[in-house]
Amino acid sequence: MTENTPDKLHFTVLKLETVEMLDVRNGGIYVDATLGLGGHAEAILQANDEVRLMGIDQDGEALRFARERLQPFEGRTTFVSSNFSEIRNVLHEAKAGEVDGIVADLGVSSLQLDSDERGFSFRFDAPLDMRMDASSEGPMASELLAELSEVEIADIIYRHGEERFSRRIARWIVERREGGTPIRTTKELADLVARAVRRKPKDKIHPATRTFQALRIAVNRELEILEQFLIDGIDSLKTDGRFAVITFHSLEDRIVKQTFQRLAGKCFCPPRMPKCICGAVKKIEIVTRKPIVPGDDEIQQNPRSRSAKLRVVRRIADQ
Ligand SMILES: C[S@@+](CC[C@H](N)C(=O)[O-])C[C@H]1O[C@@H](n2cnc3c(N)ncnc32)[C@H](O)[C@@H]1O
Ligand SMILES: [Zn+2]
Repeated sequence: MTENTPDKLHFTVLKLETVEMLDVRNGGIYVDATLGLGGHAEAILQANDEVRLMGIDQDGEALRFARERLQPFEGRTTFVSSNFSEIRNVLHEAKAGEVDGIVADLGVSSLQLDSDERGFSFRFDAPLDMRMDASSEGPMASELLAELSEVEIADIIYRHGEERFSRRIARWIVERREGGTPIRTTKELADLVARAVRRKPKDKIHPATRTFQALRIAVNRELEILEQFLIDGIDSLKTDGRFAVITFHSLEDRIVKQTFQRLAGKCFCPPRMPKCICGAVKKIEIVTRKPIVPGDDEIQQNPRSRSAKLRVVRRIADQ
């Protein structure tokens, strides 16, 4: 672990807003599905002395860190090492029943981004891994780049990174591997992208930023699992229970927004469809018409919060 200075702990994104919007209730059971450093979890536990909290994370290092931080709340906390796509099983196994609230602060934590060995950042030279769950058997980013076709690599970089030089970057990656030197480290990838797009790493945003984001999303299958997680989460809520989700880029936010709209009853079928087939049902009410975003102060203190969007829904009684 690197740089686990107490300062980092202050950087829980939209902390007050999230807890307020969750409407934390006396005696309630809350799930933090992305425990991370435990910032939101701590704020929920502090909001009411009677609440219990289950923290889920797929990153063992995060769980160890948060467990220690949340030591003062022992007796009211449980910790589960799992992917949040398993939320139904996790709650079932814990015999937790339906819960009063769920929070998900998506993406990577500063613990992961600031690690000099896990391969999430081009700021450190490390094996190009990027798995949030380091114990998983899923492929590392370097393995994806070694095994996928040029078109598949370009597709990932374009779709998950919105990178307009995606094809060029993919061609360079494949040419390099055909030359017998596949990419193995963060530095190799960052340098290759900078050369492929002919931009200097000194530019304000490093030219490899979008490629790194895209690979991380692909390695962790972040977009594939999101919609079902939202559906399962909503199904795990008591009536009046709340679900608060913080996203960090437009691809994620679009999925959250549309899934919530559909579960609030909005039909997304093409105009002339005789009958609805998109699965629109009314299970929730949207609490935040517009997403809540950080204020200038928060962005100044923590520039990583600048793209955050918080959306909250409330479960309604079955109709
Ligand atoms: C942005 S951080 C959360 C920070 C936390 N809210 C705080 O205040 O400290 C996201 C965390 O979610 C975890 N995570 C991301 N996707 C996950 C998934 N599908 N299942 C379980 N954990 C996940 C990551 O490992 C990371 O620790
Ligand atoms: Zn429909």
